[in-house]
Amino acid sequence: MPAITSTAPGKIILFGEHAVVYGRPAIAAPVEQVRARAVVMAEPGWTPGRVRIQAPDLGREDFLDELPQTDALGLAVRLVLERLGLERPPACTLRISSSIPIAAGLGSGAAISVALCRAFAQFLGAELDAAEVSALAFEVDRIYHGTPSGIDNTVIAYERPVFFVKGQPIQLLQPASPFTIVIGDTGVRSPTALAVGDLRRAWEADPGRYEPLFDAAGDIALAARRWIETGEVDRLGDLMNENQALLCEMGVSSPELDWLVEAARLAGAWGAKLSGGGRGGNMIALVPDELAPEVADSLRQNGAARTIITTIRAGRMPR
Ligand code: MEV
Repeated sequence: MPAITSTAPGKIILFGEHAVVYGRPAIAAPVEQVRARAVVMAEPGWTPGRVRIQAPDLGREDFLDELPQTDALGLAVRLVLERLGLERPPACTLRISSSIPIAAGLGSGAAISVALCRAFAQFLGAELDAAEVSALAFEVDRIYHGTPSGIDNTVIAYERPVFFVKGQPIQLLQPASPFTIVIGDTGVRSPTALAVGDLRRAWEADPGRYEPLFDAAGDIALAARRWIETGEVDRLGDLMNENQALLCEMGVSSPELDWLVEAARLAGAWGAKLSGGGRGGNMIALVPDELAPEVADSLRQNGAARTIITTIRAGRMPR
């Protein structure tokens, strides 16, 4: 039996991270330049039911029956078996690799789950649609994030820009014009769960301080949706800057993020903000197309460990 391969993209949050955990709308888009990959190979010589999970980049090799219930990779595999009503799958090896940096706000955990669930289901003879894969990846994301909103698994499983409100049906966005984003990595790793947990404690202690910040971020996401759908994309820059100011007040930015955000603005970006959990990880800058290489250069000169130039395409993105 030939090996089965599935891949899934990274993601950026364009507007509304953190506030989205508290029910406000947010906007996210896939990043095709970085991907997670899962390959499933049959092991015909082994006892049926034996499943090996390899993640060479993480130095991991485990058998499913030896993994604790809390292990994210093991959970993804178990959820697929449960969904398909199987206890003893054909013996196999699942190999995971990814070019998405971990704990950097680019959705590496959700992308690994999506690629793994799709590849394993296909190996077992089932095609799971985007909604099913997204729901499985959400269950796994709870391990990485604690209280995820569901935006990461959604944008990654559908591989399309989304306007997302927690608990509501997915709304795919159709940008009227393409726009260019430069992504800059601070090189500082910061698990999303930490920033989400700290903000939750701060909100519990003083909801009156944080609720207006979440409301304002939600209003920004609503306004941004309009400009994306009418194609007036240069107007998104000011909204990004306003969103960044709110994220600073929420306490999820960092000196490294603030520095790169400022460098992008000085190099000609229309606007810039952190993207994802914050405290480290990646920032994004909305740029006029022709300035993208210059802004990326400036980010690297100002300490970015890596930059990616990505285009959010107009209309329906091919799957
Ligand atoms: C992480 O990409 C976005 C956060 O809003 C967390 C979440 O929505 O689950 C920080």
